[in-house]
Amino acid sequence: MSDEPQHEKEDASREAEQAPIEPSRSRSSALRPLGAALVAALGVGGIAASLAHCTRARPVDARSAELIAGAAHYEEYCALCHGAEGEGYAADNANALANQDFLVSVSDEFLRVNIAEGHPGTPMAAYHESRGGPLDDVKLANLVAFIRGWQEEPTASLTEPGEGDIERGAEVYSRRCASCHGDEGQGVSAVSLNNPQFLATASDAQIRYAISEGRRGTPMPAFAGDLSPRTLDDLTALIRSWERDTEEREIVAPEMGPDLVIHPDGEAPEFSELREGRYVPSTEVAAALEQGRRLVILDARPPSDYVMFHIPGAVPAPYYEIEELAARIPKDGTWVIAYCACPHAASGRVMDYLRDEGFPNTAVLDEGVLVWRDEGFPIVEGEEPGEVADAE
Ligand code: HEC
Ligand code: HEC
Repeated sequence: MSDEPQHEKEDASREAEQAPIEPSRSRSSALRPLGAALVAALGVGGIAASLAHCTRARPVDARSAELIAGAAHYEEYCALCHGAEGEGYAADNANALANQDFLVSVSDEFLRVNIAEGHPGTPMAAYHESRGGPLDDVKLANLVAFIRGWQEEPTASLTEPGEGDIERGAEVYSRRCASCHGDEGQGVSAVSLNNPQFLATASDAQIRYAISEGRRGTPMPAFAGDLSPRTLDDLTALIRSWERDTEEREIVAPEMGPDLVIHPDGEAPEFSELREGRYVPSTEVAAALEQGRRLVILDARPPSDYVMFHIPGAVPAPYYEIEELAARIPKDGTWVIAYCACPHAASGRVMDYLRDEGFPNTAVLDEGVLVWRDEGFPIVEGEEPGEVADAE
């Protein structure tokens, strides 16, 4: 597939002919639910042979090895929020990456940069190694190829919007869009529309296409026919007006230091009964910190988010590294609280792993760290765990 969705019809059909894998075929077969376990069990060669019938235009081995690797990365890093099959909404507002209306209108470059840089301030973290994440360029390319493999319909020809009127757009937006996307596009039940990273990579034509065609099978309606072409232009202009500079962030992945326990000489916290046996409210964790109680707090998000801000004393414990990190966490009855932004997906995975390993006192921060911050509980920035006294 190309890097750019085509803006001309003829290009689009030429593109479809050249598509390296035939989309409908790539979707069938064992490829979609393919996970790390299967890869490990069969080995790349075995899978390549079993896939030989379903790939055409490219050498089978190279192409299928990329997709197998991409599938494994997807399962490890993405499925917990975007769903095992890219159906979306496994956690929070993580959109449907396998949605056809999405895939036919976004470029590989859009996917690549949004995965690499994330959407800072939302549960979508940055996954590139230059941002402290687990993906180098090759892994990222394989992951994008795997996601692109879900595309069954031909790449759309996108219409360049005419010049829109921001004020008229704002008027329609507040009536028709704000309930799902937030007054300022900050996202509520749906993805944000004002994220700097999104706006730096989404073209006007792509944004207009999303409004006009909607996203089948999701709450996002198609507004073509309902709103005039001019109104679609106005809404596009409004969303574009939210664009801000993106921050250049070179991030070194912080490491879990030797001193995991906060207040090692303190008494154990007294939490009331965990909701559903799993969740502890922010108020009780904040009180335990304030009272100098002994506990471990694990930040289950990728490092790019940890560095932006975290709970004082929390240590970095990305959900995809918990197997290696668990050995360093005390198993002596010390309370271990995990949190993330989503608010339960990554932290839940960390806690479930620890419980399986026999850690006696574990819980997930119920509201997640975005709400924790918004409610005014203490946070610190940077690579060091920090202390409540350093908090803002
Ligand atoms: C903790 C949950 C979570 C995980 C894990 C996660 N995402 Fe996301 N992702 C989200 C959310 C939520 C959004 C929407 C963010 C917003 O509102 O701007 C998003 C947005 C995106 C977008 C931008 C979509 C758009 O149209 O703006 C892409 C692409 C994406 N994710 C791909 C991935 C991939 C690939 C992975 C694995 C490497 C991944 N995500 C891991 C939650 C997650
Ligand atoms: C009922 C809720 C709802 C309403 C109302 C709604 N949207 Fe959406 N919108 C969504 C959801 C959910 C998605 C993401 C769907 C997916 O792909 O998984 C979305 C996606 C989008 C996208 C693509 C964003 C991206 O990251 O790729 C744009 C642009 C958009 N909406 C604009 C609008 C505008 C403009 C309006 C009003 C005219 C509107 N929406 C009304 C729920 C809504």
